[in-house]
Amino acid sequence: MILCLKILFFLFVLAILKLVIIAIVFAEDIKTVQDRDPAAKSFLEVLLLYQGLHALINHRIAHFFYKRRLFFLARFISQLSRHITGIETHPGARIGKRFFIDHGMGVVIGETTIIGDDVLLYQGVTLGGTGLVKGKRHPTIGNNVVIGGGAKVLGDIVVGDNSYIGANAVVIKDVPPNSTVVGVPGRITKQDGKKIDVSLDHVHIIDPIMQNIEELEKRIEKLENSGQS
Ligand SMILES: CC(C)(COP(=O)(O)OP(=O)(O)OC[C@H]1O[C@@H](n2cnc3c(N)ncnc32)[C@H](O)[C@@H]1OP(=O)(O)O)[C@@H](O)C(=O)NCCC(=O)NCCS
Repeated sequence: MILCLKILFFLFVLAILKLVIIAIVFAEDIKTVQDRDPAAKSFLEVLLLYQGLHALINHRIAHFFYKRRLFFLARFISQLSRHITGIETHPGARIGKRFFIDHGMGVVIGETTIIGDDVLLYQGVTLGGTGLVKGKRHPTIGNNVVIGGGAKVLGDIVVGDNSYIGANAVVIKDVPPNSTVVGVPGRITKQDGKKIDVSLDHVHIIDPIMQNIEELEKRIEKLENSGQS
């Protein structure tokens, strides 16, 4: 009985020690969650209950082994993490500082993805490939980018710094810095703080079919209005 209690006490001390080490080593990542999620109430809550943070910590460990070519161990950690957190990050993905996945469930990050600093992803985001080609086949995300819930960013494309990808957008072409992209396929609606009129702008369009549809819509609206008056 006493031995059992001793073992339990030992395990408890070990768990506390582990938490303290995680809190120290990943202090910056924990602070990022506190800064970026208004719902986060305390350091302890973030440390113990935020799946996005747990997935990131597991990813940093898996990536450490991946870089040392211990691929099986790296993948094992990442798959275990996927089952616990619902977030699948391939251990090969390179993730910058102060990264935060809010809510997290259903996020998938591919092997050759590169993510800059201060990036925020919401649930259901896919940073994926478009085919079976080997080599770089996943996106490169710049610094200070926000990717909305359910958005898919596909292929070896670049999303420029300070850009917003709207919820449920599907982005398959490069996005210039300081842009807001929405829709399927993604189109730029704002750049450098200015609204882009997609029907007139020929530079920022990343989907010519959508441009044609919007031009037709405007012409129909004009015809209807002139018919009424
Ligand atoms: C795109 C986004 C960043 C808004 O950017 P914004 O610069 O404030 O844009 P606005 O709200 O002024 O909208 C600009 C245009 O895009 C449209 N739009 C905005 N978000 C959109 C989206 N996700 N999909 C399609 N169209 C969208 C607006 O209706 C508006 O259209 P209009 O010009 O024809 O009126 C934001 O809407 C978004 O999707 N954020 C992600 C948030 C998220 O995923 N939260 C999850 C929390 S759990």
